[in-house]
Amino acid sequence: MVRTRLRLYYIPVFLATALIPTWLIVSNALRYVPAISPRRGFLAQRARNESERQEDRGTSVIQHEISYQLGNSSEFGHNSRGSLNVTPKCNTTVAILVPSLLPGLLWREYKQFVDQFKRHSTPFGRGKKLRSLHLECPRQRCNVHVLVTVEARYLNASDAIIVNMNPQHMKRKHPKLLPHLRRALNPKIHWVFYGVESPQRMTYWDRSISEIEYHHSITYHSEADIELPYGKYSPNLLDQVTSSKRDWSANKTGLVAWMASNCKNTHWPRLEFVNELKRHVPVDVYGKCGTAKCLPIFDAFARNCKRVLAQYKFYLALENSECDEYITEKLWDNALNAGTVPVVYGGRKEAYQRLLPPKSFIHVGDFNSAKALAAYLQLLHSNNSMYNAYHAWRKYGNLQATQYPPLDPQLFCKVVPFTLAPPPQFKVAKNSGYFKSCRRLPGVMAERGSLKLFVPWK
Ligand SMILES: *[C@@H]1O[C@H](CO)[C@@H](O)[C@H](O)[C@H]1NC(C)=O
Ligand SMILES: *[C@@H]1O[C@H](CO)[C@@H](O)[C@H](O)[C@H]1NC(C)=O
Ligand SMILES: *[C@@H]1O[C@H](CO)[C@@H](O)[C@H](O)[C@H]1NC(C)=O
Ligand SMILES: *[C@@H]1O[C@H](CO)[C@@H](O)[C@H](O)[C@H]1NC(C)=O
Ligand SMILES: *[C@@H]1O[C@H](CO)[C@@H](O)[C@H](O)[C@H]1NC(C)=O
Ligand SMILES: *[C@@H]1O[C@H](CO)[C@@H](O)[C@H](O)[C@H]1NC(C)=O
Repeated sequence: MVRTRLRLYYIPVFLATALIPTWLIVSNALRYVPAISPRRGFLAQRARNESERQEDRGTSVIQHEISYQLGNSSEFGHNSRGSLNVTPKCNTTVAILVPSLLPGLLWREYKQFVDQFKRHSTPFGRGKKLRSLHLECPRQRCNVHVLVTVEARYLNASDAIIVNMNPQHMKRKHPKLLPHLRRALNPKIHWVFYGVESPQRMTYWDRSISEIEYHHSITYHSEADIELPYGKYSPNLLDQVTSSKRDWSANKTGLVAWMASNCKNTHWPRLEFVNELKRHVPVDVYGKCGTAKCLPIFDAFARNCKRVLAQYKFYLALENSECDEYITEKLWDNALNAGTVPVVYGGRKEAYQRLLPPKSFIHVGDFNSAKALAAYLQLLHSNNSMYNAYHAWRKYGNLQATQYPPLDPQLFCKVVPFTLAPPPQFKVAKNSGYFKSCRRLPGVMAERGSLKLFVPWK
């Protein structure tokens, strides 16, 4: 799910950024920074020794931050303001290794994150160009300071550094930057690999991403240390069944819908597949790859578009990559949440079965051809009880779905427990379950124009 929104007025900004290689910034910082050399974990030390806090002058990192209280900490019962024994909570510093927080070039989940910084952060550092965000972590031993920086002195003062959060921005800088930083910085720093894009996508951008070394991971994949999926299904207890018998085909005026903004940059011939399917069953194509429109057209993912899609019986939830568990908002939000039945492809059927509600989807790999799939959709269209069987799960479970994995404060809070122990052995990205979940790597773009060589991954 990548939607870079390159607007005209961002182009000068983009050029300016592109012309100042991060590498230079970092190597410069490395050259004259050691004079400051703040101790790693000094924030945590402050917690242990309040008196030292007064003397610590290496604290320029987080001098001016404001407290950003999210949620309602009193509801958790810990650290409540009324507590008699008030010991200050330690602060864990989590740095995000990204050169800047420029909007426009960034994809959507990152934009949300940038906005959060805008609203709740304070500038710090030379020229006040850097920002920090203080997060309350009611369930954790420490609260969190989040920094976005490439400056070695601030990175060195962090307890954990998140890398690869914006692989497009960092592409081709990883190979030089990361090994260098790992050597130059304190070995007690925890390195956290971040990935909500598919490994096919990332290795297409930058093959060296597969060589990134890390201690802990944040990805959509179930093997991650901190899971960040696009959606989640939780079965209810049977006695909590609430909804009554409902005909899910009622009020549906359309048959099959597809919405996409990326027509050609896919790792399997997705557009060709949809075109072939269209020869056998009507498919309304929204977004850039088709002519169907749900207004306002400037944002294909606007809320009212969801209402339009909800009027279809089926929604094509076809991912850009062939990777198990890479199941995005296309499926969780656009289809299941909207009350349609998703026709899915991306990972193997087994992965969908593990993660989605039972009997809630139709996998492309179950059919020998687009024609056979079309015939099955027509059959369900003609038989309401067969169609409704794909909605039966709704009585027994709940969905949590988002348009993109939220970079919410609790995500950073989840890093805290990992930093309380020394870092484990380094792992290499390419050996992770997340990377190994793909049909093939490195990712390459699909041959265009023909479906002949395409055999669905089952
Ligand atoms: C980072 O901190 C370590 C330990 O305090 C120190 O040895 C190292 O020189 C520092 N590196 C930089 C680039 O500041
Ligand atoms: C943690 O950071 C907050 C906000 O900057 C600060 O008020 C608090 O004193 C810090 N706690 C410790 C133990 O340093
Ligand atoms: C705190 O620091 C002071 C001065 O550095 C030291 O004398 C004292 O023992 C420390 N206290 C604790 C609890 O570590
Ligand atoms: C915060 O907690 C208090 C006390 O439990 C409750 O009355 C209040 O509604 C909560 N506020 C929010 C925004 O959840
Ligand atoms: C269908 O639409 C009608 C009128 O808008 C509404 O009353 C009814 O509840 C809808 N039925 C379902 C199953 O959504
Ligand atoms: C619909 O399918 C069910 C189950 O396969 C079958 O029992 C029923 O006769 C079908 N109804 C129609 C109208 O074809």
